Amino acid sequence: MSETYTRGQKILHWLLAVLVLFWLLISGQLAESAEGDQKGMILMFHSGGALIIFALMTWRYVKRRKNLVQPLSALKP
Ligand code: HEM
Repeated sequence: MSETYTRGQKILHWLLAVLVLFWLLISGQLAESAEGDQKGMILMFHSGGALIIFALMTWRYVKRRKNLVQPLSALKP
């Protein structure tokens, strides 16, 4: 069991935090408010990006299972 998360895990964590917030707050509103010719393009971006987010989350989960980290000793179990 290791002491800390790897650099890759930390990067993935913050990348996903930013992406999910962007998708919730901005991309969703763009998808909802788009009209006409633009709509298809924006929905493709919104849905495709969401699939990339899902793939990154799955990757993060696999890394999390492979690299077990000790709980913080200062916290009660
Ligand atoms: C990380 C994943 C996703 C997040 C956080 C997200 C978030 C949102 C949000 C906040 C809205 C606006 C909803 C509203 O205010 O009514 C929205 C709309 C929408 N999303 Fe997503 N979404 C995600 C994934 C997807 C995926 C995978 C698809 C399709 C395969 C999709 C298709 C749509 C569609 C069709 C709309 C509505 C557009 C309209 O009103 O015409 N979303 N999404």
